[in-house]
Amino acid sequence: MRGSLLIATGIAWVVPSVVAGSTNPQKAPQFQTLPSLRDQAKIVDGWTDERKALIPGILRKYGVDAWLISQREYAEDTVFWALKEATMFSARRRTTQLFLANATAEGAYSYTWVDNTDLVWQELKAILDAHQPSKLALNTAAELAFASGLHAGERDAIADALGTEWAGRFVLEPMLAVEVVATMVPGRLPWYRKLMETAWAIIEEGFSSHVITPGQTTAWDVEWWMRDKVQALNYTTWFQPSVYILGKTDLPAAADRRKSKRGRTMVDDPRAPDHSLSYGDILHTDFGVTAMGLHTDTQHLAYVLYPGQAAADVPASVREGLKKANRLQDIVVANMEIGRTGDEILKRSLDQALAEGIEGKIYCHATGEWGHSAGTVIGMTNLQGGVPFLGELPLLKDTYYSIELYAEHFVPERNMTIKFPQEEDVFWNDEAGAWEWVYGQQTELILVRTKEKESEAVLHVQDGGEL
Ligand SMILES: *[C@@H]1O[C@H](CO)[C@@H](O)[C@H](O)[C@H]1NC(C)=O
Ligand SMILES: *[C@@H]1O[C@H](CO)[C@@H](O)[C@H](O)[C@H]1NC(C)=O
Ligand SMILES: *[C@@H]1O[C@H](CO)[C@@H](O)[C@H](O)[C@H]1NC(C)=O
Repeated sequence: MRGSLLIATGIAWVVPSVVAGSTNPQKAPQFQTLPSLRDQAKIVDGWTDERKALIPGILRKYGVDAWLISQREYAEDTVFWALKEATMFSARRRTTQLFLANATAEGAYSYTWVDNTDLVWQELKAILDAHQPSKLALNTAAELAFASGLHAGERDAIADALGTEWAGRFVLEPMLAVEVVATMVPGRLPWYRKLMETAWAIIEEGFSSHVITPGQTTAWDVEWWMRDKVQALNYTTWFQPSVYILGKTDLPAAADRRKSKRGRTMVDDPRAPDHSLSYGDILHTDFGVTAMGLHTDTQHLAYVLYPGQAAADVPASVREGLKKANRLQDIVVANMEIGRTGDEILKRSLDQALAEGIEGKIYCHATGEWGHSAGTVIGMTNLQGGVPFLGELPLLKDTYYSIELYAEHFVPERNMTIKFPQEEDVFWNDEAGAWEWVYGQQTELILVRTKEKESEAVLHVQDGGEL
């Protein structure tokens, strides 16, 4: 998913590995139903426990002795959401957690208080006194959301309550929170695959004659059909799906820019006015689903066949555009070496693309725990020379990434260069030492097959079957 449509300057957003996963699933994607809420809670809590058990090791990796996370109800630290139990819907009172790099003799490596009295500080101080951590990490990063969740007022409260001795040992290690949120424990993958298959299935049905009647159905009709379908399946989503007609209602970044009265550059919503879909349109969607604390992010392309047309009638240039985007995805994935920064991966990928004669833009991001999750970013639509702060982080493994980008391709039937976007999620397969597609890679256009009606036959002849 790309970033805000309104803020032009902030849009959107490790042995080179070979993608070994299936690239074009054999069977049509199916809608995957979710377990009961009670069973979901049990599954998700299991994943959270596995994640929590990794924290002491992550603290040791970054040379931090203890990590303090504290918040009041409705002013939660960003990390809270990755550590909460499924039946918690917010923090309560003051919710304070301490994690230790080295467990005590009794084996406790974490302590949690839910309290609104000074008892929490007295007990916390007693534990700190007993363990004497020399580095006590707080989530106070200035530029990285996932490591900046400690509210300013809560930091003051902690400093006051613990006193100067402990305040002198406060440290910031942004990668701590980033790695804890980024790490996708293995048990999540089977469900992530199911979510991804469902996302593919919704796109395929949305881009079919079941939903689209050329000349009548508009892009917004399809978007809202997707929203309703998500709800019918008991899933949710984390952004409004978008449907564009390539070369007509183009991508956000390519939309007209205008200066607002206050001088800020705005991007007009390219979906407006709402367009009806026609024969010969190249359709694009950016779509994701959310369930069980997981988020997917996918962009696929479709082509609306004229009545009577078959797959072989899709203009070759349109297929080539998709192929170029696929190639650019493969280039990025091959450069995603663990430990390299997003900026390094971006530069290597753009250099390689240029050498292969591919023009486009790369804007990949971590996904899974959040739609745009914790971890380095590999370009943003407005930042192709490197991304301050986020692009400087090293790429982590055991996480999911959205391979999001577009490749430009000249379409002679339209006499225009069209941007072919693609977005697909990968996971790190530790055994294979490689990134793999979570469900697949879109290597074939989705075909919207329409039936000829008498009234449309006339239209068809008048259009001459042009793209
Ligand atoms: C935890 O153990 C590591 C070695 O594994 C050591 O370097 C560190 O000082 C210990 N920290 C504390 C708080 O004992
Ligand atoms: C959605 O949830 C309702 C209520 O629990 C249930 O009856 C229905 O079968 C669910 N639908 C799907 C597709 O899982
Ligand atoms: C294609 O577009 C170019 C410029 O955009 C224009 O000069 C040229 O005449 C167009 N060709 C046709 C066949 O319309």
